[in-house]
Amino acid sequence: MLLFEKSVSGRRAYSGPIAEKFSSKYAPAFLLRKNNPALPEISELDLLRHFTGLSAENFGVDSGFYPLGSCTMKYNPKITEKIARLADFTDTHPLAGSEALQGIMQIYHDFSLFLSELFGMAAFTLLPCAGAHGEYTGLKIIKKYFEKKGDDKRTVMLVPDSAHGTNPSSAHIAGFSIQQIKSKENGEIDLEDLKQHCSSDTAGIMLTNPNTLGIFESSILEIAEIVHKAGGLLYYDGANANAIMGKARIGDMGFDVCHLNLHKTFSTPHGMGGPGSGPVGVSAALKDFLPNPGIIKKNGKFHFTDNKQSIGHVHYALGNALVVVKAWYYARLLGKNGLKNVSEIAVLNANWLAKKLCSLLEKPVKNSVLHEFVLSARALKESHGISAYNIAKMLLDKNMHAPTIYFPLIVKEAIMIEPTETESLTTLKNFVRIMHEVIDEAKKNPEHAQHAPYNYSVQGIDEALAARKPVTCFKNI
Ligand SMILES: Cc1ncc(COP(=O)(O)O)c(C=O)c1O
Repeated sequence: MLLFEKSVSGRRAYSGPIAEKFSSKYAPAFLLRKNNPALPEISELDLLRHFTGLSAENFGVDSGFYPLGSCTMKYNPKITEKIARLADFTDTHPLAGSEALQGIMQIYHDFSLFLSELFGMAAFTLLPCAGAHGEYTGLKIIKKYFEKKGDDKRTVMLVPDSAHGTNPSSAHIAGFSIQQIKSKENGEIDLEDLKQHCSSDTAGIMLTNPNTLGIFESSILEIAEIVHKAGGLLYYDGANANAIMGKARIGDMGFDVCHLNLHKTFSTPHGMGGPGSGPVGVSAALKDFLPNPGIIKKNGKFHFTDNKQSIGHVHYALGNALVVVKAWYYARLLGKNGLKNVSEIAVLNANWLAKKLCSLLEKPVKNSVLHEFVLSARALKESHGISAYNIAKMLLDKNMHAPTIYFPLIVKEAIMIEPTETESLTTLKNFVRIMHEVIDEAKKNPEHAQHAPYNYSVQGIDEALAARKPVTCFKNI
C-alpha cells in the first residue's frame, strides 16, 4: 500500500515551524506555492512502519542467498563500509584541489598500481563509474589509438554471441559497428568464424574470460594472435574477474584494454543501479590515452596530470571515490594471496554446485566451469510447461534470490548460477535441497508453479513493460 493511500486528513509526523512563515520570510514571492503540496498525512509511527516494511521487502545479499550469475553478489564486509564513512573521506569536497586531497590521491595511486600488477596491465584509471562506463572508456581509448595511427578504416568490433548485452551496446555508442562471432558447442569461441571475420576493418574483439557460460577460453593465446595479426586489439570485459584473481593475468592472456567491476569482484555493494566503479586497465602502448586526470607521485607528493593525448574526461572529479575506497580496503584486507584464495573458493563452490544440480536440470555445456555455470530448463518446459522464469519465481517464495535467467542468449531457457566464495557449504546444500523441492513441486502442480511468486506484494508483472515504461509517480500528483 502506498503512503498516499495510508493518508488520513490531519495526521502529522512532524511538528515544528510552519512552512508558510518561513517561506514568506526567506523566499521571493514569485517562488511561493499557491497551494499546499499534495503530501500524504501520516503519523510518525505509521511513517516509520511504512519504510521499515518497504526495506524488509527488498532482497539483498544480507538477507539471503543471491546466486545471480554474472553479477558476483558476494558478501560486502561491513568494515569497508565503516572505512568509507570516515569523515576524512565523506567531508572532502571532490574539487578541493590536490593539497587537500593527498590521502584519497594516494589510495587512487596505490590501488591502480596494485590492480596493474594483479592483472598484468601497464596502468589503470579508476575514474569510470560502472562496467559499461569502463567499456565505453576502453573503447574510446581503442578508437583514439587507431586515430593516432591514422588507421581510420578500423571501425568493426567483434563480439561473441555469448557476450553480455553491454558489450555490443558500448561498442555501438563508442562509434563501432558490431560483428558477431559464433560459439562452438563446447561454449568456446569458434576460431574459424573468428578468422573469417578478421580483416583490415577490424578494430578489435571484446571478450570476457571465463565467458558468460563460466568457461575459460582455452584458445585465448591463439585468439589474441589471430586478432593482433589482423591489426586489431583485444578488450577484456572483467565482470568475471572473480574467477581469475592471482591465477591468470589479463595482460598475459594478450589483452590490450580491460575493465574491472569493483562493485562485483572487489566486494562493494551494488544492485538497483549503482553506485559502481569500472576501472580501466591498458597496455603500455595505450597508456597516454587514459582519461584525465591522471595521478602521479613526485617528490613524495601526489599531483593531478592532464595528458594531451588523453581521450579527455569521463567523469566529474574522481568518479565514485567511496566505492574505490571500499574496494581498496577490501584488497588490503585480503592481500594478493587472499584474493587468489577468493577465486579458488569461488571456482570450487561453482563446480560443487554444478555437479549437484546437473542431474536435476540439463547443463548444455559439459566442460567443467570456473566461477559460474549455466543450466537449462528447456526439457522441463517441453515436458511440463515449466520455464526458467517459473523456477526463478518459485525460488523467491523459498527466500532465495533468483539466479540470472535467459542469459546468455545462446542457451535456451538459461538459468545462470554464481554462488561466489562467500557462501558456506551449508548454504549451498540448502540451495540444492530447495532446487529439488521447487522442481518436484513444479512437476506435480505446473499450474501453481506458473503463477509464482505467492509471497510478494505483486505477482505476474510484465517485467519488460516495467523496465521500458516505468510508472514512478502516484496518480494524484
Ligand atoms: C559480463 C558483464 N559485462 C559487463 C557488465 C556491465 O557492468 P555494469 O552493470 O557495472 O555496467 C555486466 C553486468 O552485469 C556483466 O555481467
